[in-house]
Amino acid sequence: MTATRGFGIDIGGSGIKGALVDLERGELIGERHRIDTPQPSTPDAVADVVAEIVRMAGWDGPVGVTLPAVVKKGVAHTAANIDHKWIATDADALFAKRLGRGVEDVAMLNDADAAGMAEIRFGDPAARTGVTALLTFGTGIGSAVFHDGHLVPNTEFGHVEVDGHDAEKRAAASVKDNEELTYPQWAKRVHRYLSVLENLIWPDLFIVGGGVSKKAEKWVPLLDIRTPVIVASLQNNAGIVGAAAAAVEGIEH
Ligand code: BGC
Repeated sequence: MTATRGFGIDIGGSGIKGALVDLERGELIGERHRIDTPQPSTPDAVADVVAEIVRMAGWDGPVGVTLPAVVKKGVAHTAANIDHKWIATDADALFAKRLGRGVEDVAMLNDADAAGMAEIRFGDPAARTGVTALLTFGTGIGSAVFHDGHLVPNTEFGHVEVDGHDAEKRAAASVKDNEELTYPQWAKRVHRYLSVLENLIWPDLFIVGGGVSKKAEKWVPLLDIRTPVIVASLQNNAGIVGAAAAAVEGIEH
């Protein structure tokens, strides 16, 4: 029955979280382990934490790991909100070595892509038809785009230029906190961002996620755009669930 369970780890700007996942239901099994993201978040320091989480869980099977970065064939290519040493790091090889596994037993993918995979699989069935764009609002803004349920990996729509600014520098959830914006003030920025994005990619559906989606009622109703907007149903665990699915089923490159 191991194929219906996988282990997922979600590396974020503030925390690294991991859990065993039931891949038939999209639910965590047992405890979720969380350790603060080390600062600086160098590949070696992060690999130590990942190894510790897998050890705490006592898991010896394949592992899926997300990074807040473009990840192609296991190699990280960007580092907007993590240490710059990640650029050009073969994360697949690094984690496989640290976890004592073969590279085939470690799946690396972008964090928003992982969250999107989980939503497509376990969330609102409407997301499986046409063009769906999931956006995660956290330390930065992540994006995952699907056509009829198939992922176009590594879209980086958090870095679209909006009114002369990198979008995530104005509309990430961390900006709301740092600039002490009220929900209506921040919702205006998210509204502007989504309006620009919908004119570029014409999605049929937006899914908004990230920790701030827990308080969705305070800002989602203020978004008055053409495209329907729904709230991610797996919220904070979507990255873990998507990573666990990737560990067992592989990734679309
Ligand atoms: C990164 C993306 C990531 C997103 C959310 C952005 O700054 O460029 O790769 O998905 O943050 O973590």
